[in-house]
Amino acid sequence: MEKIQKLIEENTLALIVFTLLVVSFGGLVEIVPLFFSKSTTQPIEGVKPYPALQLAGRDIYIREGCYGCHSQMIRPFRAETERYGHYSVAGESVYDHPFQWGSKRTGPDLARVGGRYSDDWHRVHLINPRDVVPESNMPGFPWLARNPVDAASLPAKMQALRKVGVPYTDEDIKGAVEAAQGKTEMDALIAYLQGLGLALKNQR
Ligand code: HEC
Repeated sequence: MEKIQKLIEENTLALIVFTLLVVSFGGLVEIVPLFFSKSTTQPIEGVKPYPALQLAGRDIYIREGCYGCHSQMIRPFRAETERYGHYSVAGESVYDHPFQWGSKRTGPDLARVGGRYSDDWHRVHLINPRDVVPESNMPGFPWLARNPVDAASLPAKMQALRKVGVPYTDEDIKGAVEAAQGKTEMDALIAYLQGLGLALKNQR
């Protein structure tokens, strides 16, 4: 025992190696059980893979960097649950690749924004936020109302998601182009926002 202690105290390399060993063991003990825990790997009741149009909207949300100002994770604190609703649980995000939890909140959390406003409110707000919230410093995204959705790319995206465990059916994939055809990027983004956080909200 003394020999080991002497080695660690006198040899920096040994100290580094032992530190790494201890830290990785501690990390594995914390993280690995989560891979097998139902609460983190199983969808909660009511969570379904994103329908085609919402999936397209999710990609636009990521492309436009909305996550740079908006988190999608309600923390289990009273101040948060009173403002946003039930705190977020892992089973709500199992079909998100990658998930959009984040922590940067220039704007409010969006984890349960689904159903809070009308589609028309979102349309006006996304084109020019100050038309509905005068003090807003959110930028406008007016081009979304002009760009058509890239419907043709959806089946390939859904197939890729299926490979990582999202249970899309063949019908879902076959119907994807038709579901998004002729819609604008604005329509898709609003469909995505309106679907956020509903599964848990509807159970309460
Ligand atoms: C520069 C930071 C910033 C970016 C980028 C940004 N937002 Fe916002 N967002 C805000 C702020 C600040 C508010 C609060 C004021 C308001 O409602 O406009 C807000 C409010 C919202 C709201 C209303 C939320 C509520 O509960 O009232 C929605 C929905 C929203 N943003 C969606 C988006 C989407 C979608 C994008 C990407 C296309 C986006 N935001 C990009 C800052 C941002």
